Amino acid sequence: MSTTYNQVYARAVGNPTAVDVDALCVLVGGILDNLDLGEKRFTVDPGNIQTRTATTQTLLQHSQLGQKPVLDMWNFLCLRKEFESHKDGVAMQSGHRQGVYFLCILLTLEISIYQVVNMVVAKSWTMVRHFEGAPKLDDFKLIEKELPPLKDGEVLLESEFLSVDPYMRPYSKNALKGGDVIMGSQVARVIESKNPDFPVGGYYVAYAGWTTHFISDAKGLNALPSNWPDHLPKSLALGAVGMPGLTAYFGLLEICKPKEGDVVLVNCAAGAVGSLVGQIAKIKGCKAVGSAGTDDKLTFLKEIGFDEVFNYKTVSSLAEALKKASPEGYDCYFENVGGKFADAAMQQMNDFGRIAVCGAISMYNDSVPSTGPYIQPYILFKQLCMEGFLVTRWQKQFPEGQKQLLQWVTEGKLKFHEHITNGFENMPAGFIGMLNGENTGKAIIKV
Ligand SMILES: NC(=O)c1ccc[n+]([C@@H]2O[C@H](COP(=O)([O-])OP(=O)(O)OC[C@H]3O[C@@H](n4cnc5c(N)ncnc54)[C@H](OP(=O)(O)O)[C@@H]3O)[C@@H](O)[C@H]2O)c1
Repeated sequence: MSTTYNQVYARAVGNPTAVDVDALCVLVGGILDNLDLGEKRFTVDPGNIQTRTATTQTLLQHSQLGQKPVLDMWNFLCLRKEFESHKDGVAMQSGHRQGVYFLCILLTLEISIYQVVNMVVAKSWTMVRHFEGAPKLDDFKLIEKELPPLKDGEVLLESEFLSVDPYMRPYSKNALKGGDVIMGSQVARVIESKNPDFPVGGYYVAYAGWTTHFISDAKGLNALPSNWPDHLPKSLALGAVGMPGLTAYFGLLEICKPKEGDVVLVNCAAGAVGSLVGQIAKIKGCKAVGSAGTDDKLTFLKEIGFDEVFNYKTVSSLAEALKKASPEGYDCYFENVGGKFADAAMQQMNDFGRIAVCGAISMYNDSVPSTGPYIQPYILFKQLCMEGFLVTRWQKQFPEGQKQLLQWVTEGKLKFHEHITNGFENMPAGFIGMLNGENTGKAIIKV
């Protein structure tokens, strides 16, 4: 048969009266018959959403048809009531043929099944209850939801990379209630569009939460910079060239205001933000001192150019480790940790030192606020300047910061490292692992 399914399909949709129903049936039936679906073919339970999704994926992989025709076919087949009782191969095959006939009839009537039943199933991770102490796997629940057809102006996106970040732990307390999808950002690809400005295939950073698919009215979708080099992973838009990169860039330059020759201290130094803070400090001609929780991370820090490093978990005294790393004290302190580390670091600051309070990860799981040495005397007698910040403060300058970060990354001046957790189903484990320090560089979930 010389006609391709897509041609017949296009003809059917474009000009129903010209549809060659028999040709379509033979063609589609042939495709289905010749598909090597292995055992899955005969064990499909159309009532089970997971099997349906898996079979749709198999059809897509083997038939090389576009996603929409396959989804149309499969949606239709799943709608057929008699399928629910037939699970042996012969019955399914004849069922396929019936389905194909009905598909043709519907096409001639110009009814898009895709619009009747949209088979795109979004998987999302929800928070079962508020975290108490450290998040646990049973605090998360995976849900599935079929997404409705698109309205004009909307786009359907598929997440490829998702970000797990420390802020999700403290922010979940007030922003979420039990059953809500967990907040977060992703790099996602448009897979269907009813908005000419956001065509199929485009990549965007979105803030749609822990979900595989979502419909957007296109507001709040941020395109990757147009000069994004092909060889750079798009996941960097969630890391070195995304929110963590901008946090390091603006937090260090705008609040710590490092001058050439200054000593810059950063903790969580091997993480997404910290590893960039140290490197930007070096670009600006400073001495970079970093702390991290494993010796492998220390090796990584030396590789990316830190001058002095120490393992805050194994040193016998934080004060001694800080003194040894910089006997001349510290001019800038980029604070990610809080708690006891901050108590020790404040005492090592030089007069007129600048402290950017970016995070306090050692305190995020505390249910009772901790008390500690009070910092006013240090701030007073050393005339320190200490300022907290949220990166969103510089939202209007993000394009400028992103441009600089992308340039440094492309030139090799800013090295990046990603800790990739494969599989959307492993997202809670990836999040918990990041909080426990399993990541070197940016923690990313690859769907
Ligand atoms: N202000 C803002 O706008 C903003 C934006 C982004 C991030 N942040 C903050 O920046 C900090 C770093 O975030 P990130 O995204 O770059 O995360 P990250 O550093 O990539 O990952 C978190 C790291 O925290 C360390 N950690 C966990 N518990 C700790 C503890 N009790 N004491 C010391 N270190 C601990 C772990 O490394 P070790 O192996 O070294 O322990 C872990 O790898 C966080 O505090 C975050 O909240 C703030």
